[in-house]
Formats: sequence, C-alpha cells, structure tokens
Amino acid sequence: MSLFRKKTQLPEFDPTRVPRHIGIIMDGNGRWAKRRGLPRSAGHRAGIKVLEDIVEYADSIGVEMITAYAFSTENWKRSKEEVDALMALLLDYLKNFEKHLGGRNVRIRIIGERSALSEEMQAEMIRAEEGSAKNTGITVNMAINYGGRLEITKAVQQIAQRVKAGELEPEAITEDTLSDAMYLAGCPPLDFIIRPSGELRLSNFMLWDSAYAEFWFDNICWPDFRDQDLLRAVVAFQNRDRRFGNAQ
Ligand code: FPP
Repeated sequence: MSLFRKKTQLPEFDPTRVPRHIGIIMDGNGRWAKRRGLPRSAGHRAGIKVLEDIVEYADSIGVEMITAYAFSTENWKRSKEEVDALMALLLDYLKNFEKHLGGRNVRIRIIGERSALSEEMQAEMIRAEEGSAKNTGITVNMAINYGGRLEITKAVQQIAQRVKAGELEPEAITEDTLSDAMYLAGCPPLDFIIRPSGELRLSNFMLWDSAYAEFWFDNICWPDFRDQDLLRAVVAFQNRDRRFGNAQ
C-alpha cells in the first residue's frame, strides 16, 4: 500500500493498469533556469525537488519503480562549472538521502559506471543503497554516469569473460543472457519512458530495456512537471494498444 495516498483527478485514470516501471529523462533544467535569469545549476536543484514530488506521486498511484536519468556518460562534455555543480548536488543528495525520500520508505539503487566518480561519491552511493535497502515503497534507480551503449558494452564484456573461462558456449547466449547482465536485471519491465522539454530522442537512455517501452513527450521543462502531468501521461499510456509485435 502506498505511503503517500495522493488524490487522482482525472476520471479516465484506471488504477488497475498503471505502468509498473517508468523511466524519466529529466530534461529542460537549463532552459528553465535561463528563462529566469538563473544559473543552470538552479534548474538542476529545482529538478531534484520535482523528482521527489513525482516519485511520491508515482508511488501513490501504484508505480513500483522509477529509473531517472541524472547524469549521462556524455554529460562530462558540459562546462566544468556545470559538471562540478551537478556532482555536488548528487553527492549532497546521496549524503542526505534519509532526510529526503529515504526517510519516506523509498529505496534507492544507483546504476551507471561508478569507477569514473569520486571515491566519496562511490562510498555515498553504497551507503544510500544499503541504508534504504529494507524500505518497502517505490524503488528509484538513479542513473549516474549512465550510457546505454556503455551498459551493453559492459554486459558483452562480462559474457565474453564467461565464454573465455569455459563457463558458457557462444551458442548458449540468448537475449536472457544479455538481460541478466544489464543493470535492470530482475526489475519490472521498463514499460513507459517520459521525456519533457520538447526533445524527441532517447539520448542513450536504456537502449536495451526500451525495446517495447511506450514513450511520452511533452514541451514543459522538467522543473515545471507536476503530479497532474504524470497523471496525464499515465492516462495516455493506458490508452496505448501494446501488442509487443503481435498482430491481434
Ligand atoms: C537535462 O536538462 C538534465 C540533466 C542533464 C541533469 C538532470 C539532473 C538533475 C535533475 C539532478 C539530479 C540529481 C538528483 C539528486 C536527482 P538540461 O540541463 O540538458 O536542460 P536543457 O536541455 O534545458 O539545457
């Protein structure tokens, strides 16, 4: 049962057909800040607050898992000032996770390539994950230094090692072998991806797991995204005809 129990206001909403796992590309923070004459980091700070609100709301309507794109393997190309600001925000968030969603029964898992991150960040990731592991509400997978191509590359390397060690025959490699080597192994299928701010692309997000995800795009920037926007998106999801390649 959800902790948050917020009200839904759209009559078309069907509580029995909620996406189990939603991916969110939290885009538009920079533009939101620029329009207000603020530094880009102010947009990211506002974006964190929105993520918290949306996670609570998603939990209240029965979503089991959210995977949120916080920092991509390509985001290192941004100015040092912005990268430093994002890393500082992430570190601060993880350090205080119990005061944020961690204290409200939310479980956090970090996905992405950790070795390029500071030792302090890596230690805080483990601490936040372990500290929230027994929480029973919604799970948030925070994608930090995540790239879909890198994820697939790492999975292939792992499988190749098993072949080299004689544990696995190449012919025995199936789609499940790859799925099991991805970060989302064992998670509910990623069935819905939301990208606000008007861009119509995946930007290297969840390339393997998005194979049969439904997509939802909107022009509003992430810091302006509210509960009712999530609800509108979920209602749109409920009206999709998901055939998974089947003709009927
Ligand atoms: C995309 O907007 C956003 C990002 C690259 C970072 C998203 C990160 C956060 C919301 C903070 C995450 C941290 C925690 C702890 C949740 P953009 O900067 O590309 O915006 P623009 O397209 O308008 O320039």
